[in-house]
Amino acid sequence: MLARPKEGLLVKSRRSHRKIACLILAAGKGTRMSSATNKVLHTLLGRPMVTYAVERAQELGASPIVAVLGHQMDEVAKAMRAHFPGQEVEVVRQKEQMGTGHAVRLGMKRLTHSDGLVVILYGDVPLLRRETLAALVARAERSGGLAMLTALVNDPAGYGRIVRDAGGNIQGVVEDKDADRGQRDIKEVNAGIYAAPAAFLREAVGKLSARNAQAEYYLTDIVARAADSIGVTSVDVAAEEMAGVNDRAQLVAAERLLLDRLVRKHSKVATFRSPAQVYLEATVTIAPDAEIGRNVVLRGQTKVGRGAIIDDGVILADTVVGAGARLLPYSVVTQALIGENARIGPFAHLRPGTELAADVHVGNFVETKKTRLGRGSKANHLTYLGDTIVGEKVNVGAGTITCNYNGYEKRQTIIEDGAFIGSDTQLVAPVRVGKRAIVAAGATITEDVRPGVLAISRAPCQQVEGYAERLADRYRKKVPA
Ligand code: UD1
Ligand code: CA
Repeated sequence: MLARPKEGLLVKSRRSHRKIACLILAAGKGTRMSSATNKVLHTLLGRPMVTYAVERAQELGASPIVAVLGHQMDEVAKAMRAHFPGQEVEVVRQKEQMGTGHAVRLGMKRLTHSDGLVVILYGDVPLLRRETLAALVARAERSGGLAMLTALVNDPAGYGRIVRDAGGNIQGVVEDKDADRGQRDIKEVNAGIYAAPAAFLREAVGKLSARNAQAEYYLTDIVARAADSIGVTSVDVAAEEMAGVNDRAQLVAAERLLLDRLVRKHSKVATFRSPAQVYLEATVTIAPDAEIGRNVVLRGQTKVGRGAIIDDGVILADTVVGAGARLLPYSVVTQALIGENARIGPFAHLRPGTELAADVHVGNFVETKKTRLGRGSKANHLTYLGDTIVGEKVNVGAGTITCNYNGYEKRQTIIEDGAFIGSDTQLVAPVRVGKRAIVAAGATITEDVRPGVLAISRAPCQQVEGYAERLADRYRKKVPA
């Protein structure tokens, strides 16, 4: 209980005392993606790129969050809202891209108030870290002026250059295309991300002109204006963090960096045998002492329990893995619950609606769907269980098939506690096998099996004396040796 008030204080001190609104610029199509899909809808770790900016805005407690959209506006707006249900994301259409300054001018129309701060983010800058943005906002709050993120880069080509006076104070930003020779050598560049007092920003974007090399309204012109009035300060940002995504190579490079961060975070408590060879999404949780093998994929709402082993090549989506469970190589599991100390695979396929209790064993080439197995039950080889309820301590023999589909509908199989299903059995649903019943190998079960009985359904075996020799004789005459 001691930790509670401390935690509360921490959150409070990080959260701003002032009102914060956020503008997210994302009107461009992203031509260099060469895609029918808008650039910001391409995914990174399973989420549309644009949702990263929304998440940053949300972490600041920003309200409203206003997105300036153009190309495929409806789809982009839908993606933003789908990822943050309950979060108000307002949308403004910018029909023609007349520059970042023009985009902000449109966005400001949605902000009715003129107190507090406005933070400007981009739909195509997904690597910006929460801490960096918090530092920017803190700087703006403390200084009362414009705060901006700047980076030192080896190759500043394409970026706006930061022009400072002899005293080191920022005087303005010169765009690449407008820079003279001397300015082009400046290695400090503009990340394009700002926190500014709303009243200042509103006035400054109202006064922008498009008299420049690109005939665009440059948002960057507000920097010189702030230098002459409210003052400008900068916060350093790593070049990697401010990088925009413009093509597919940059998309996968950005995903790689996000993945590295995520793996590094989980590596504090779990062992990754080959950190560069896993894929996981930010929604995944991993409990302490879990072990993750090579080429593992963990998606969606997957939760890996304490001490669980996820061996090489395992693919889990929206799956809860109990403590101490072992998933052996190349098992593929979707929307399933796996109990504590269960053992799955290698090469098992658990489909949606699979629920395995503690200590269950599901072995190689076993497929399950909408199926529950009770504590300690086993289905170790070559089996299909669909729409099935299996009790506790049941043994399902190799090659058992539940025939759950009659061509029209799915029907249920129930196997009660302690039953034994012999190998190569077909259970034609709907059907029930009673407690501790034994089904002999090779059975086709089309009616309920009573508790405790032995159920045999087999054609009697005939043995034809001397047949092998007669057959051999016949062929010896036909085919000369
Ligand atoms: C901008 C900055 C530059 C900075 C760089 C960092 C300006 C004038 N320049 O340049 O100083 O170094 O970012 O990456 O701001 N957008 C709109 N509507 C528009 C124009 C742009 O929504 O009318 C959006 C785009 O979709 C894009 C973002 O704003 O996501 C940046 O626009 P872009 O034209 O690429 O600016 P840069 O030339 O990169
Ligand atoms: Ca850009």
